[in-house]
Amino acid sequence: MAVRPSRPSGQPQSSKVSQFKLVLLGETSVGKSSLLLQFVKGQYQDFGESTIGAAFLTQMVSVDSAMVKFEIWDTAGQERYHSLAPMYYRGAQAAIVVYDITNTETFVRAKAWVSELQKQASTNMVIALAGNKADWSANRAVEYTDGQGYAADNSLLFMETSAKTAMNVNNLFLAIAKKLPKSEPLGGVAGSAGVRGGPPVDLRQPTQTSPAQCCGN
Ligand code: GTP
Ligand code: MG
Repeated sequence: MAVRPSRPSGQPQSSKVSQFKLVLLGETSVGKSSLLLQFVKGQYQDFGESTIGAAFLTQMVSVDSAMVKFEIWDTAGQERYHSLAPMYYRGAQAAIVVYDITNTETFVRAKAWVSELQKQASTNMVIALAGNKADWSANRAVEYTDGQGYAADNSLLFMETSAKTAMNVNNLFLAIAKKLPKSEPLGGVAGSAGVRGGPPVDLRQPTQTSPAQCCGN
């Protein structure tokens, strides 16, 4: 099955576009913004800035003949922003909960995010668990089987990723795109004009959003 991210130089393979809201959640410094920077721009920074509030960006992927437009909210992991999170995950069709494989606390926090989503978010939300910083296996603190086992028990997609080496970054988003119900998009639009991602978002200068600006729900 052919799945690939659609970069700005590519051409859509179909006029059908399904649009989905995706939210990234997880403890601060696990690499949420780095995963997005890698996914959207194919770049990595060793010293990115911690997200303030949230950042928003879009990216297209193609899954066989279907085009999927992700509208992505990259939330801030610092505890003081926790209360804002429901604004971003409510109404989202997909979530990526990220932890850092070198830090067990972040795995505990990821499990708490999954529980919160299971209680508060849409019942048919596609949830993926990502064990990031897999390139740093010398410092591994969370075993692959722990992440995989927890994900299996909770019907989550699971991958270990590396925003640094790009390992599994595209695969993660593509696996989510494949699971989303493309026949019933919330915001499906016809035609390819204007749907190839939004304006470029510089993740080093995240969009700061207030509750009023954020989600409309
Ligand atoms: P908040 O915005 O505070 O919630 O953090 P975040 O989850 O967005 O983390 P961010 O992407 O800012 O990354 C934090 C740090 O981890 C940065 O110094 C990154 O360079 C580093 N980092 C992110 N992903 C990886 C990875 O896959 N491997 C390694 N080795 N370092 C990573
Ligand atoms: Mg961030």
